[in-house]
Amino acid sequence: MELDLAGINVRISDDINTWEEVNLLYNSALKQITTKIEILNEEFQEVHRYNPIEHTKARLKAPESIVKKLKRSGYESTIENMVRYVNDIAGIRIICSFTSDIYKIAEMISNQKDIRVLLVKDYIMNPKDSGYRSYHMIVSMPVYLSDRIVNVKVEIQIRTVAMDFWASLEHKIQYKFEGKAPVHINSELHECARMVADLDARMLSLNEEIQSLSDTKSKNMINYTV
Ligand code: GTP
Ligand code: MG
Repeated sequence: MELDLAGINVRISDDINTWEEVNLLYNSALKQITTKIEILNEEFQEVHRYNPIEHTKARLKAPESIVKKLKRSGYESTIENMVRYVNDIAGIRIICSFTSDIYKIAEMISNQKDIRVLLVKDYIMNPKDSGYRSYHMIVSMPVYLSDRIVNVKVEIQIRTVAMDFWASLEHKIQYKFEGKAPVHINSELHECARMVADLDARMLSLNEEIQSLSDTKSKNMINYTV
């Protein structure tokens, strides 16, 4: 398949032939997105005097998980199918303090000229039935090899510290019960998800209040000094 990206012909998917190539390309894409996010965070720190990002975690999906996912969707385990149907071979999770940071980060990522946003799932506006909240993006970015440019997909999950706390425990519980947790545990998880959403909202409004106070304070300082 040929794609036109800013005047450059980019071949995708049928350009990746071996598992070694999958590894190299998705690992390169992960390195690129990690650096991009680090740069955005440093710039944000420089301009706004605060870090929107607490930390990031990047991972490559294990080969057996890729094969399992393909099987679950009824696809044969071929390199072509991996590249075409598995959107989370390369994944990065961005953890921040406030819900408002999530949308700022998502916008900064979308504004990067070489990043193409393929899909957005806003599980903050529309939480999953499980209670799960996070902002997901599937993006693609060009990886430059010596003889060609290949577009590679990366799954980006952006969430607050509180959302991450909930998702980690919920994942652990679902893993333990193989997705069939007792009703009372699921309803307790739902209640916790509601509390996490409430906590996020209250922490955000507290922060906004403090922010506006310190803005007024610094304005007064300026008035005083001039
Ligand atoms: P997967 O096949 O699980 O990758 O889901 P999908 O292709 O339908 O995409 P979706 O955006 O729904 O989920 C992608 C990823 O988000 C998952 O692999 C998990 O890491 C995370 N996720 C989605 N739903 C839940 C949930 O209910 N609980 C937790 N803990 N994580 C979730
Ligand atoms: Mg996944």
